[in-house]
Amino acid sequence: MCGIIGYVGAGDVVDIVHQGLINLEYRGYDSAGIAVRADGELLVEKTAGSIDAFEPPVADGATSAIGHTRWSTHGPPTERNAHPHLDCDDSIAVVHNGIIENYTELKAELEDHGFVSETDTEVVPHLIEDAFEDDPDQSLVEVVSSVTDRLEGSYAICVLRRDEDEIVATRDGSPLVLGHDEDGSFVASDVPAFLEHTREVSYLADGQVAALSADGIDVYEAGELVDLEVETVDWEPEAAQKAGYDHFMRKEIHEQPTALRQALTGRLDDEAGEVDLEVSFPDGYLDSLEEVQFVAAGTSYYAALFGARLVESLADLRASVFLASEYDGGAGRDPWRTLTVAVTQSGETKDTMDAIGVAADLGAGTLAVTNVVGSSVTRAVDQTVYIRAGPEIGVAASKSFASQVMTLAMVAIFLGRARGTLSRSAARRRIDELGSVPGAIQQVLDVEEEVRETAAEYLDAEAFFFIGREVGYPVSLEGALKLKEIAYVHAEGFAAGELKHGPLALVTEESPVLSVLTAGTAPERTRHNVAEAQARGAPAIGFVTEGLDIDQLDVAFTVPDVGWMEPLVANVYLQLFAYHVANELDRPIDKPRNLAKSVTVG
Ligand code: M6R
Repeated sequence: MCGIIGYVGAGDVVDIVHQGLINLEYRGYDSAGIAVRADGELLVEKTAGSIDAFEPPVADGATSAIGHTRWSTHGPPTERNAHPHLDCDDSIAVVHNGIIENYTELKAELEDHGFVSETDTEVVPHLIEDAFEDDPDQSLVEVVSSVTDRLEGSYAICVLRRDEDEIVATRDGSPLVLGHDEDGSFVASDVPAFLEHTREVSYLADGQVAALSADGIDVYEAGELVDLEVETVDWEPEAAQKAGYDHFMRKEIHEQPTALRQALTGRLDDEAGEVDLEVSFPDGYLDSLEEVQFVAAGTSYYAALFGARLVESLADLRASVFLASEYDGGAGRDPWRTLTVAVTQSGETKDTMDAIGVAADLGAGTLAVTNVVGSSVTRAVDQTVYIRAGPEIGVAASKSFASQVMTLAMVAIFLGRARGTLSRSAARRRIDELGSVPGAIQQVLDVEEEVRETAAEYLDAEAFFFIGREVGYPVSLEGALKLKEIAYVHAEGFAAGELKHGPLALVTEESPVLSVLTAGTAPERTRHNVAEAQARGAPAIGFVTEGLDIDQLDVAFTVPDVGWMEPLVANVYLQLFAYHVANELDRPIDKPRNLAKSVTVG
């Protein structure tokens, strides 16, 4: 969802910002633009639609620039509505992520200004223009601080002026990360925007204002200069490239063995049967817990459904899972005995941020399970566990689901051991089985061609139904979401036992049923539900633990026998199936229509 990149320095300014926009494409957008400062002028170019054919401003001697990919909220995706937006004099350019909720009132105040777009953003350059008219001696930092004090809603904003090279950036509720390089300074909504230039970053906090120059970055809070913490991100620049794959999604599916090993590294003590997640809670807190509440959206919600079952069984806790957008505080429970866990790949999803805010306000303990270091959710919670998946560029979540589930499995063991509900020997066995998952996933990836052939055989079906039990159920939901999201075909996931309670009416010989038949998810019961669909003519494709005696399927794929996480391994087949259906249908797999990677509006 909207992307920002700004650069000031000695590098090739236009090229750096243009490439930054390309790097940010994965966030989802429908129009784009760049403003460049060169020879005391501001040059602006915008485009509606893809940036493939976008011609950035031609500007020899450019010294600073800001760019933006827009995902429309106020006004359609036209060139006029694309950012950057300008003041009346074309001397102030602004890019913005988020929503300015009081823009109608602000616009009414600015009646003597000429507006050209339907956006909420356009009030900002005009407010800045007014502030400079009132007092031309103010610095841009001072003006931006006073103007943003008047904004309601959420924003990340970057401002460039005709009169100076400096870029000023600030945020409240939308992410901004700063990049430090010996040749110049970066600001962006996400690290991959500038990862090929620097891995030295600082995360701007809500309310802070950054002034970027070629010599470095100053950050102010309430008008005072603050010390800036610089971190080195451990993502390799190549991790944000396709590395020979046709699509980021396929690359990310194939990265799962590595991603999962990263998630496990240094956290498991198989001798002691312990998991170290580098979190700490007050003495007695975990023993006093009665409930864990998960809040999440989309794929992360399905990962949470998976994790909740593990927490319930290993840690003897009530575990509830809420769609973040529906969370109201988990009526009826005792906040002091509840741990609320936000599961979010990006750490920026507004629904999830809102939900964790509600939980924190009620007094619940909070934990984030996220991929992005320094993301907004990490600032909103008491403790964070990183899933360590590396950058995920494809809009459809793939490796992040696997890494979330793996991390939640470790959380479940951790809670079980801390609360004394999981014996050392049982924990050792579970830990040992976790270590087998990356290799099992590699075995699935090695038979990708068979999955592609099956996808090609069934791709004309009217609909696809996915079924599974226990932790096979969230995997079914996730398999269906992947297919809908990237192939634009009708797909639904069901708890296997529910098929006969309604959805069976939809089943025909044109609707393949894909079933998770792994040991430990009651496959002997699920196979009967498969038979019910087969009796109505539906083709049956199943994912079966090796050695299980299930021979009724039209197409059977083997899941290596690795214990409790087998449904996570089966999920890789579902990812590959969705990918190859979408690829055969020539869909834009990495950037599905209407979707954004990071959903920062509610
Ligand atoms: O960044 P988050 O994990 O919070 O994102 C939540 C959903 O928007 C996300 O999982 C979405 O459903 C994916 N596009 C699914 O592939």
